Amino acid sequence: PSKARAAESRYVFDELAWGNDETHHVAPGYDAQILLRWGDPITADAPEFDVMNQTAAAQSKQFGYNNDYVGFVPLNDDGSRGLLCVNHEYTNEEVMFPGLGRQDKVNFKGMTPELIDIEMAAHGGSVVEIARDAAGKWQVVRDGKMNRRITPLDTAMTLSGPAAGHARLQTNDDPSGTKVIGTLNNCAGGLTPWGTWLMAEENFHGYFWTDKLDADGKPDITGAAEEKSWDRYGVPGMWYAWGQKHDRFNVDAEPNMPNKFGWVVEVDPMDPSSTPVKRTALGRFRHEGAETTVSKDGKLVVYMGDDNRFDYQYKYVSAGTVSDDPAANGTLLDDGTLYVARFEEDGTINWLPLVHGTGPLTAENGFSDQGDVMIDTRLAADLLGATPMDRPEDAQPRGDGTAYILLTNNTKRKQGDTNAANPRPESSFGHIIEIKEANADHAATSGTWSILVQCGDPKVAEVGAQWNPETSENGWFGSPDNAAMDADGRLWISTDQGSSWGKTGKSDGLYALETEGEARGTSKLFFRCPVGGEMCGPYFTENGETLFVAVQHPGTDGTKDIPGFERESTFEDPATRWPDFDPKMPPRPAVVVITKQGGGKIAV
Ligand code: FEO
Ligand code: CA
Ligand code: CA
Ligand code: CA
Repeated sequence: PSKARAAESRYVFDELAWGNDETHHVAPGYDAQILLRWGDPITADAPEFDVMNQTAAAQSKQFGYNNDYVGFVPLNDDGSRGLLCVNHEYTNEEVMFPGLGRQDKVNFKGMTPELIDIEMAAHGGSVVEIARDAAGKWQVVRDGKMNRRITPLDTAMTLSGPAAGHARLQTNDDPSGTKVIGTLNNCAGGLTPWGTWLMAEENFHGYFWTDKLDADGKPDITGAAEEKSWDRYGVPGMWYAWGQKHDRFNVDAEPNMPNKFGWVVEVDPMDPSSTPVKRTALGRFRHEGAETTVSKDGKLVVYMGDDNRFDYQYKYVSAGTVSDDPAANGTLLDDGTLYVARFEEDGTINWLPLVHGTGPLTAENGFSDQGDVMIDTRLAADLLGATPMDRPEDAQPRGDGTAYILLTNNTKRKQGDTNAANPRPESSFGHIIEIKEANADHAATSGTWSILVQCGDPKVAEVGAQWNPETSENGWFGSPDNAAMDADGRLWISTDQGSSWGKTGKSDGLYALETEGEARGTSKLFFRCPVGGEMCGPYFTENGETLFVAVQHPGTDGTKDIPGFERESTFEDPATRWPDFDPKMPPRPAVVVITKQGGGKIAV
């Protein structure tokens, strides 16, 4: 490109070449260092990782599996020391455990009670202190006083807000309906302005079990008290064998337990003895993320997607305003209004409030109180006429009334089911919508929207991709999943192609996507994953000099369709052994820290 053209995009780096191999790659001039891997000890008393002799007790003190959200809470003024807050979304047993192989999802023949507990201990989250050493290199502070694991195995939590104490949240172990053990499938998330960590509970339905099966071997929920709700949420999903061992994950024994999951969990990373709180005012759905910002009049605003085909985009606006005193912000996530988005055909957006007694959200329609509206957020949003989207993943506000909504793909949308905001049938590659809230205020109940990019290969006409023509063959991507703003308010996008790897031939990666001026819609590849790994994070520190990215499930997604690999990975025969490349070690999900060689802001 000419110098004049290069000056148009605000991202200054030499683009990485696309490709697909066993390791990660970063743009020239940057260092990408492995910071934390599955199994790394994170407390002073944690044992070293022994992959051939795994135990739940050890895993409970070691870094968990499938790192997704990454946030950083500084502990000093220059941000050279801080707490990394990392979600561990799920587990891939076929590459975690020796001799197990891929599991039959109904019988789970190989899953022993101990393996079940190890899986549970590998889920949840980690708080890990990290610090830059004298050479500027980030290191884990293994005896950091705030270091902790949060798991679905044994971390006690409370529920607060409109659904707390509701009859539908009462279980055998908790008649109060205000307590629960653990959090599930924590995908993306966010940090609040007062430094707490929001963990989004995404595919919680997959962890629930029933012994009642129909003739096809599928869960039979006919006649269950929660039948309508379970049908809408996909409960019980039976993706994991946990309900075989633990009654709390068996809906035959605990029919109300699924109602204690599917929320946003607030964690105070500064207090390792604090009890995480599930904030029911933010609604119950397959929460992808929970990125926050502050409105013009000081209210907290949280943007949240429900990652399911034809499900909805939400945002929450607090009643009160954000205080400089963190202790005064406790109720902001309990008292406020949840809205669902209707993307009108004319390019406007209306945010519809989910408030009991308003419009159709009444007892006649099955909502006895606000608790019911929150427990069955999806059913309430259906009645309000929200716009069915192409799988809303992360949503990223910028703080100036602009927000980006990532729609990852939806191959089930038919030709006649398209709408202006989801214009492509059978979309394999997804798109990104830009919202401009009215009066540049994130609390506004209306605004306008436009499509920033339609993803996929611009050279293949039938894909219908739309990029700025400056986007190179390296820069286009498919299946946007996570988003981050850097220190200069620029947008970065990470991808999760899942089984669609073969459709692009590209590895998942991190892209710098221009939103402003003539370069708007130009994308550049900055980092790419090892084969079969999904790109998560990303997170920039406040000074813009450090970027954290997370490689999830390396060696698994789509490897059978990738030339040179052509097989599904197992512990014994994985497509890659990233990041250790030790013949005795399977691939390990890991957080990678990226800095500029010689120091300075990234991509500037
Ligand atoms: Fe866990 Fe929607 O990605
Ligand atoms: Ca995601
Ligand atoms: Ca994000
Ligand atoms: Ca994902």
